[in-house]
This record gives sequence, C-alpha cells and structure tokens, in this order.
Amino acid sequence: VYSVLFCVCVCVCVLTKVVVPEGSDAVLNCSFTSETHLRLQTFDWKRHDKEVFFYDQGKHYNNGLSGQDPQFKGRVSHFNDQLEYGNASILIKNTQVNDSGTYSCVFPHLKEEKVYIQLVVREYFMILNHSQSKLQAEFRSCHRESS
Ligand SMILES: *[C@@H]1O[C@H](CO)[C@@H](O)[C@H](O)[C@H]1NC(C)=O
Ligand SMILES: *[C@@H]1O[C@H](CO)[C@@H](O)[C@H](O)[C@H]1NC(C)=O
Ligand SMILES: *[C@@H]1O[C@H](CO)[C@@H](O)[C@H](O)[C@H]1NC(C)=O
Ligand SMILES: *[C@@H]1O[C@H](CO)[C@@H](O)[C@H](O)[C@H]1NC(C)=O
Repeated sequence: VYSVLFCVCVCVCVLTKVVVPEGSDAVLNCSFTSETHLRLQTFDWKRHDKEVFFYDQGKHYNNGLSGQDPQFKGRVSHFNDQLEYGNASILIKNTQVNDSGTYSCVFPHLKEEKVYIQLVVREYFMILNHSQSKLQAEFRSCHRESS
C-alpha cells in the first residue's frame, strides 16, 4: 500500500501540464540536466505506447527512420539548433483533441531519467457553446421571473 502511494505522489509531482487549443502547435519541453550536446545522442518521445519522435545521432523520423505512429507522421519536429544546449524539446503541429495524453521523453543511453508531460488539447468551440447555452438559460429564467 505504501509503495503505491509513493508512486502516485512521485508521478504527479514530476508531471508538467501543457494546455493548448485545438489546431494550434504545442512545444513539449525536455532538456537534459547538464548541458550535454545531444547531436550524437539518442532521445525518444512516446505517448503511452505510441512512437511520437525518435532521434538517434542525427537520424530521426523526418529524415528516414521508420517506426513512427501514423497519428504523428509529418507533424512532429525537434529543434536542431537547440541540441547543443541539451534541449530535446519537440513541436507538435496542428494538435487535435486525440493528441491529448501523457508524453514521456527518455535518453536511453545517457541516464535513467524521464520527463513526463501531460498534453491537454481543448476544443474551444465546445467551451464557447457551453457558455453560450448557459447564458441563454440564465436569460430565460430571468425572463420568466419578470413576466
Ligand atoms: C520550456 O522551458 C523554458 C525554459 O525552462 C521555459 O522558459 C518555457 O516557458 C517552457 N515552455 C513550455 C511550453 O513549457
Ligand atoms: C527548447 O527550444 C525551444 C525552441 O527554441 C524553446 O521553445 C524551449 O523553451 C527550449 N526549452 C528549454 C527548456 O530551454
Ligand atoms: C484524431 O482526430 C483527428 C481529427 O478529428 C482525425 O482526423 C484523426 O484520424 C484522429 N486520429 C486518431 C488516431 O484517432
Ligand atoms: C459551436 O458554435 C459555433 C458557432 O456558433 C459552431 O460553428 C460550432 O459548430 C459549434 N460547435 C459545436 C461542437 O456545437
């Protein structure tokens, strides 16, 4: 029981949350702690069991490596000019609601260090319509009271 509780606490504490509106681009931050030059290193981004982005010594999903999940094909890129600063962040273009979930960034050859990011893609029209219908409901009840 204690180990379960401990795990829940650790997982929650390390999680970073990123909220974006549907259709926009999202940056998922991941940096190696000491400014390690990452050009000749390996890093791997996953969402649950889906392969999002894999970089291996200059080769990655946008220049020939295979294995990327079709959901992310052509939409994910890394920041090439940031590798020298240990920055392994990625950009996901045109995010959809079904891109939401917990992403992990791993350096398999460097250290057992993982970064977790929870991405939440919101459909803004639904929020808008919800508040619109709420306003209408309030207006209706006002109207009823005054009549
Ligand atoms: C990424 O990290 C940088 C530096 O820590 C910070 O300034 C920036 O706001 C972060 N971006 C996101 C989307 O979390
Ligand atoms: C990594 O680089 C991207 C693109 O320049 C930037 O938005 C982000 O804040 C950087 N992350 C960190 C942790 O510095
Ligand atoms: C995710 O949603 C988009 C837009 O609704 C759709 O085109 C795409 O097929 C969906 N992808 C998956 C893997 O469900
Ligand atoms: C919300 O309202 C907008 C404009 O009134 C409409 O175009 C859109 O289809 C609506 N979305 C939903 C999910 O009902």
